[in-house]
Amino acid sequence: MDGLVLRKPRGGWTVPPTMPDYHETRQGFSWAEARRWLQGLPDGGLNIAHEAVDRHAQGARRKQTALRWIAKSGAVRDITYGELAAATSRFANALRALGVGRDERVFTLLGRVPELYVAALGTLKNGSVFCPLFSAFGPDPVRTRLALGDGRVLVTTDRLYHSKVAPIRPDLPQLRHVLLVSDRAEHELPTGTRSLRTLLAASGDRCAVAPTRPEEMAILHFTSGTTGTPKGAIHVHEAVVAHRATAHQALDLRPGDVFWCTADPGWVTGVSYGIVAPLVVGATVIVDEEEFDADRWFAILRDQAVDVWYTAPTAIRMLMKWEAAGGPTPRVARPPRLLASVGEPLNPQGALWGQDRFGSPIHDTWWQTETGAIMIANFRAMDVKPGSMGRPMPGVEATVVCRRDDGGIDFVREPGAEGELALRAGWPSMFRGYLGEPERYRACFRDGWYLTGDLVRYDGDGFVWFVGRTDDVIKSSGHLIGPFEVENVLLDFPSVAEAGVIGRPDPIAGEIVKAFVTLKPGHAASAELERQLLAHARRRLGAAVAPREIAFVTFLPKTRSGKIMRRLLKAGETGSAAGDISTLEPPS
Ligand code: WT7
Repeated sequence: MDGLVLRKPRGGWTVPPTMPDYHETRQGFSWAEARRWLQGLPDGGLNIAHEAVDRHAQGARRKQTALRWIAKSGAVRDITYGELAAATSRFANALRALGVGRDERVFTLLGRVPELYVAALGTLKNGSVFCPLFSAFGPDPVRTRLALGDGRVLVTTDRLYHSKVAPIRPDLPQLRHVLLVSDRAEHELPTGTRSLRTLLAASGDRCAVAPTRPEEMAILHFTSGTTGTPKGAIHVHEAVVAHRATAHQALDLRPGDVFWCTADPGWVTGVSYGIVAPLVVGATVIVDEEEFDADRWFAILRDQAVDVWYTAPTAIRMLMKWEAAGGPTPRVARPPRLLASVGEPLNPQGALWGQDRFGSPIHDTWWQTETGAIMIANFRAMDVKPGSMGRPMPGVEATVVCRRDDGGIDFVREPGAEGELALRAGWPSMFRGYLGEPERYRACFRDGWYLTGDLVRYDGDGFVWFVGRTDDVIKSSGHLIGPFEVENVLLDFPSVAEAGVIGRPDPIAGEIVKAFVTLKPGHAASAELERQLLAHARRRLGAAVAPREIAFVTFLPKTRSGKIMRRLLKAGETGSAAGDISTLEPPS
């Protein structure tokens, strides 16, 4: 379908696109101009929460709904910008009362409840650093991240504390405060925890936003690589310049819009576009507490009159499957003005489903934890080539390169030729480091270009097409999973000798986590052992990270230096060519 082009109208829009002419905007655009779309603090200060909340609460949007929270029960609770300003001030004041300072890390381990949004923005108001953890993580990923990130405060619930934090609490001496979102009274809570509600009730609802500098650390997002521990990508307050600009230009978002980003704030999309960007723009943000449910999702699109919808390819494939199976799909009388997706490859069928279902294709966008904001997108006024990720954002210079062994890069200029996607360093939401790992950070850059680790090609019209990853990380339902973290937990199981973990292609989730395991002498593979090992992994890693499938094998392919060749394990699953096996060590 490479040749297919969905032409956009050249005029006659009911609501004209925010960016009617991509090339014109790109030419005239500068980040300095985008910076002026924000208010800022006195003396050149900048604070994300001020831009997202207080600025509106002090102005005309005070009574507008900022968050429309849909509880699992279906009950709806509206929180205005004014109320959100008060709640986040209470949270910031509570941190101050606890002696939590600027720069100290405040973690959350929460589902999509209002307290998560209050904690995120209240933390920023206090000048502390916000770090979200995905609520479907098990105790192991939670411990690793809290330890690496030097978490001083954790906001979570009774249930999550009991199952995921209490068992590892002794390993986390630096974790001073655990605040529980709970209906129970203070004296009924486990020792070493406090009631968030009690603390908030005792705190004033006004506070002066910390006078943060644009380059001060604001948000820490953990992401996974092929090897080693998870990496803490550092983002600064300046990132908000890119959140605001990309929401406006790529998502066509404007004040007063109803916006629904389906991503969980345990990951970067759910923070950049589920919290920050739409609030900075002055939109009304839909938050659904419930997990994916096709019926419910179609009903939200219909009942909430969503203007802009930002979702993920896995979700789109699940909706398509539901429809194909004859699901009773409600009619959405007024479909969203813009449909967009991110996180994993969107196949042409997915893009076209939007066209069939809502009269406008799904607009794919590309970015990463490290880029902090959308870098490549299909824009509302621009023709869409289904299967392509679109074009670079205004202000973003993207190119295709090849790494040379001498540490330099060669530029791949020929249209259609594959290479690694590189971005010219310097956009506002670029990560400023991997926490405590300057070497790992430096290794991401060459000659002033950030190397993304993704393989792409440009076509002759300037559209970027995703080809694959240069590393072994796994993308399952849009979530990035590091094989090393999974292998380590498998190796803790008494009878496991070695483990190699890969992403096995899956028609809905994109990939699912699959483990290849060899056993220690004297142990035999069995259905019972498989069940036990899966349960062990699930208990330690959580449902979001644990393998779905285990294959017991007699040997794992390795290099001469003893590294397991995941690439070969994956090739066996996909039936693709094994690639270079010259370093493969034959089993003895
Ligand atoms: C990786 C980054 C973007 C925020 C959520 C994910 C893959 C992302 C696309 C896309 C194909 C995509 C890339 C990228 N990815 N968008 N439109 N088409 N692949 O952030 O968890 O850091 O993952 O997701 O491989 O490097 P992340």
